[in-house]
Amino acid sequence: MSNTIIVGAQWGDEGKGKIVDYLTEGADVVVRAQGGNNAGHTVIQGGEKYVLHLIPSGILWPEKRCVIGNGVVIDPAALVAEFDTLAAQGVSITPDNLSISDRAHLTLPYHRMLDAHRESGRGGGKIGTTGRGIGPTYADKIERSGFRLADLDDPVGLAEKLAAKVEEANLILDAAGVEPLDLAEVGAEFNEATDRLAPYVRDTASYLHGQLKEGRSLLFEGAQGTYLDIDHGTYPFVTSSNTTAGGACTGSGVSPRHIDNVTAVAKAYTTRVGAGPFVTENAEFSDRMHGMGREFGATTGRKRRCGWFDAVLVGHACRLNGADGLAVTNVDGLDGIDTIRICTGYMLRGETLVAPPARCEDWEECDPIYEELPGWGDSPTAGAKDIGALPANARAYLDRLAELCETPITLVGVGPDRDETLVCG
Ligand code: GDP
Ligand code: IMO
Ligand code: MG
Repeated sequence: MSNTIIVGAQWGDEGKGKIVDYLTEGADVVVRAQGGNNAGHTVIQGGEKYVLHLIPSGILWPEKRCVIGNGVVIDPAALVAEFDTLAAQGVSITPDNLSISDRAHLTLPYHRMLDAHRESGRGGGKIGTTGRGIGPTYADKIERSGFRLADLDDPVGLAEKLAAKVEEANLILDAAGVEPLDLAEVGAEFNEATDRLAPYVRDTASYLHGQLKEGRSLLFEGAQGTYLDIDHGTYPFVTSSNTTAGGACTGSGVSPRHIDNVTAVAKAYTTRVGAGPFVTENAEFSDRMHGMGREFGATTGRKRRCGWFDAVLVGHACRLNGADGLAVTNVDGLDGIDTIRICTGYMLRGETLVAPPARCEDWEECDPIYEELPGWGDSPTAGAKDIGALPANARAYLDRLAELCETPITLVGVGPDRDETLVCG
């Protein structure tokens, strides 16, 4: 059995949830290893829509196991709300099919408030965060003052620490003229949620080691995308975790030695939510997508910015992640377009770049170098049942993407439903 990491190759929302759902059939355990409820993974099965934020998409397969690893930051109130939403849709979640790492850090109300406060202080330089408290939670983790689920074992110490953290946050909020937090309220919300989570908490790294020993296969569900990675992304317009393949290992306790395959997921075009450089962004293309009812964020409902496929980005992402294969989703989004553009290089002050620059200011200045391919006119990809049934121009487009990104395309999405996934080769 093989162990596979799924990562986003662009700025998130590539369709990772759908690809993970599709691949879960061949896996035993599905693992989330970074990010928090900033993620929004939409999965459609037989017309029913599920949106996952913290829980791995594998939960929709009743017989599979899911793990929320140590690298994930968990807002306990948001996680129990997700339990309830999924339960109302008939999804069974029990300590038998979901485990949560005792090393995972917790997002508390003051993290959310500090996220909002820091954003407002950024003025014109706003990141456009999801407002879920992700940055402040990871900041506490790195600064070594965070809360972990394991801390629930010491209620007295935890209450003292919570009081100190709320007092510290209130000093900042008070100075900013923001209504301070009420410690009793924060404590009550925290206790109510963590009481429900307690039965799921365990040493998930050891659990995964046991699963590996028994020959079970693991599927790692990435959140966000390569260019939201804290190191490799469009810093500072990024999230606060390592969204690239290595994050799956550090965020789960599974050694890179056990990884057999990395699959990068990219849309057949590009989207981005929030601020930051986006070389191939195109207003007309964005309007077209929104007009079709596509490309609204699963977490915040914001309109996603849209543009042409950027092979500089995706090619570099394939190298950063060591991608064995590329899953290209939303090919049907290009149906009906006469001429399709692909960005093959960046022009920065007269020089051609084949990898993105380090500084956002330079990235913003890059002009795309495009090549144009003919679209596939009136023959849609939507509804195609296998790769051979795709229009010839759609196949030529995909072949060119694979060539430019130096990575074979293994899966193609032509619709949001689980069975609208085509296998190549
Ligand atoms: P994730 O965050 O990477 O899991 O992606 P999201 O779920 O946030 O966004 C991807 C969007 O594209 C969702 O609305 C999916 O239902 C949808 N989607 C995924 N693959 C396809 C596809 O091949 N075709 C179409 N039409 N929609 C798709
Ligand atoms: P999935 O897993 C798209 C973006 C935000 C913002 C930046 C920082 O669904 O692909 P944060 O709240 O993380 O501090 O925001 O990152 N962002 C995402 N964009 N998909 C996501 O997740 C995202 N998670 C965060 O819009 O630009
Ligand atoms: Mg998403």
